[in-house]
Amino acid sequence: MTDQFAKKTEAWSGRFSEPVSELVKRYTASVGFDQRLALHDIRGSLAHAAMLQACGLISAADLADIERGMAQIREEIEQGRFVWQLDLEDVHLNIEKRLTELVGDAGKRLHTARSRNDQVATDIRLWLRDQIDALVLLLAELQRALLSVAERHADTIMPGFTHLQVAQPISFGHHLMAYVEMFSRDAQRLSDCRARVNRLPLGAAALAGTSYPIDRERVARALGFDGVCENSLDAVSDRDFAIEFCAAAALVMTHVSRLSEELVIWMSPRVGFIDLPDRFCTGSSIMPQKKNPDVPELARGKTGRVTGHLVSLLTLMKGQPLAYNKDNQEDKEPLFDTVDTLEQTLRIFAEMVAGIEVRAERMRQAAAEGFSTATDLADYLVRRGLPFRDAHEAVARAVRHAADEGVDLSALPLASLQRFAPEIAEDVFAALTLEGSVGSRGHIGGTAPAQVRAAIARARARLG
Ligand code: ARG
Repeated sequence: MTDQFAKKTEAWSGRFSEPVSELVKRYTASVGFDQRLALHDIRGSLAHAAMLQACGLISAADLADIERGMAQIREEIEQGRFVWQLDLEDVHLNIEKRLTELVGDAGKRLHTARSRNDQVATDIRLWLRDQIDALVLLLAELQRALLSVAERHADTIMPGFTHLQVAQPISFGHHLMAYVEMFSRDAQRLSDCRARVNRLPLGAAALAGTSYPIDRERVARALGFDGVCENSLDAVSDRDFAIEFCAAAALVMTHVSRLSEELVIWMSPRVGFIDLPDRFCTGSSIMPQKKNPDVPELARGKTGRVTGHLVSLLTLMKGQPLAYNKDNQEDKEPLFDTVDTLEQTLRIFAEMVAGIEVRAERMRQAAAEGFSTATDLADYLVRRGLPFRDAHEAVARAVRHAADEGVDLSALPLASLQRFAPEIAEDVFAALTLEGSVGSRGHIGGTAPAQVRAAIARARARLG
């Protein structure tokens, strides 16, 4: 044996005639980031060890040693005392090495019928499952915050926009409920994806399965998986479950980003529909008057990075031949950052949304100014027997006249309205009011305050 072999640290170094270069070691190591999987790695190892013992592949004494050693390692990690070594490449080898230090041969037996390939795939799935559960709860919190503001403002009228031009009056509560729908679908998407995350890769070993008489179902049950991955090559190599998660996450952020954009617009002094509490804003170092909506702006910006992570993972996967390739080590950082970004964003948004200060008067004024009830006048004429296209034309001319006069439709005297359509009678003014307009859209999904309240009740029931 040469000296360098005497110092060997790599678990696989018996095969090599010289040590790995320092540069390569740093390049290939993942322990700097995958140590985040440590507690899930231990859970997976304990379930694996229990199965090995149940199948007669290790002794009861070995299992007891492994459990004792792992308990101590968990404590060391939780207390920040565990010494992570770059030389040991990744979280798996760091923990295994420490286990062997603590309990001797039993530690060396743990890796029977297992490879880091099925081990890491298991760890990520266990970890991601927990993160999904936490994110679904955070999405529920955000929905609850939106619901309570929506409920307070079911009767608050604002202009609804298409093309960012005033379109028709709507309830502000109804507007917020649109986001409740989006976030509710996001939560469903995450739950759907969880079902495919929740499958056990262990037992696939490196790629081909193992020659030992193992019991994969037992490990799956012990770890709370819904079943096992049915093909060993697929089990160790595909990361579609992580990609799918990132796609769902990118949609969450896309919805957050749309809401952010609206908050920014609404808070612009030119619009002035809302204000955000000072604790969610920052000032300017040069312009003393500024109060900037940094949180929604930053969330809008972070959407780009989450979408980027989705593209990273898709690109990571696309050129890989079966089965495991080291490329897959690159799955972790995008996945971790996606979870972190969502977690922080959803937490802060739930709090910020609950604190929105609504300027109902400004909303109302804006709704009253943009001829937002023109469609209602057309509908009124249709009820009087005009074909819709003719009604549309008559109202368009009336709007042009009102605009020339600098007044709203409802401010035109009856006689001048009748010049555009003689069918118009005194009762037209009820149809032209903001309340009349909003209240008339009383079907399911419409903006009538009664419907908004019904939608809120349904959403509450859904959230439980
Ligand atoms: N650190 C590796 C990863 O994240 C663990 C699996 C390594 N497997 C291997 N054959 N080198 O993917």
